[in-house]
Amino acid sequence: MVAQGDVLQRDYFKKPFVGNFKWRTENPYVSVKESNLLADIAECIKCLPTEALVLEVACGEGPNIALLRKRGITQKIYGIDLSQERIAFCCRNVKDFTGVTMSAIKLAFKDEMFDLVFFRDLLHHVGNVKRTTITESLRVLKKGGVLYFLEANGRNPGFFLQAIALRAERGLLSSSKKNIVELASQFGRYELSMYEPSNFFRVFFHYSVGFPTLARYRFFALLSDTVTKIAEKIIPQNLWAYICMKIVK
Ligand SMILES: C[S@@+](CC[C@H](N)C(=O)[O-])C[C@H]1O[C@@H](n2cnc3c(N)ncnc32)[C@H](O)[C@@H]1O
Repeated sequence: MVAQGDVLQRDYFKKPFVGNFKWRTENPYVSVKESNLLADIAECIKCLPTEALVLEVACGEGPNIALLRKRGITQKIYGIDLSQERIAFCCRNVKDFTGVTMSAIKLAFKDEMFDLVFFRDLLHHVGNVKRTTITESLRVLKKGGVLYFLEANGRNPGFFLQAIALRAERGLLSSSKKNIVELASQFGRYELSMYEPSNFFRVFFHYSVGFPTLARYRFFALLSDTVTKIAEKIIPQNLWAYICMKIVK
């Protein structure tokens, strides 16, 4: 069973985006920002017992898991993705990872198996089965466990342009703070946080269309941080790049 619009998604995400993985996990500036996006998830995992089980749904090439490991997370992490090639890449490149190919809307795991479940940038790829995706993640989560998800905000100018330019990213157009809150509120207690007032650095230091090597220079890192600080003051939160939702089961 796969989500609607899947032929397009399956083709687009069939092969791992190796450059993207390296950029997010190794670029001196971008990897720090990527790791910051995962700070709340990492803190929550650190509070779990060592034998706790964590699941990343739609883990792709595994950059989030690689960064969680760099943050010192030692608990066992499972990852699933629709793409077999991405899971294989993940198994080769991410330490201590158990990967399985499957769909987010029909997880082959027992009820209440995991202590924490998270996903990132998945909902805008599953068409009209967003609710089922969350329900299924909650099914495999233990009672009292936490489901986190991070979604790119389609109201953010950078992600809006990405949605226009790429058919596989078109789902971003319905990804907004308001829509995500409406969706999450159907599942009980939730907490919303917004991240990255400006994601200009993602274009400027981009691995294929930008200047990733400039991230090594303090001047450009400081310049980017200054842009972010100014953006934090003047850009309304509903336009910030990332929407983070925490739902307690
Ligand atoms: C934008 S990528 C994000 C990957 C990863 N979460 C990250 O942050 O790098 C979206 C991922 O969702 C996967 N995907 C899309 N639809 C899926 C589904 N129904 N079940 C499982 N994975 C899915 C794709 O194969 C792809 O790896």
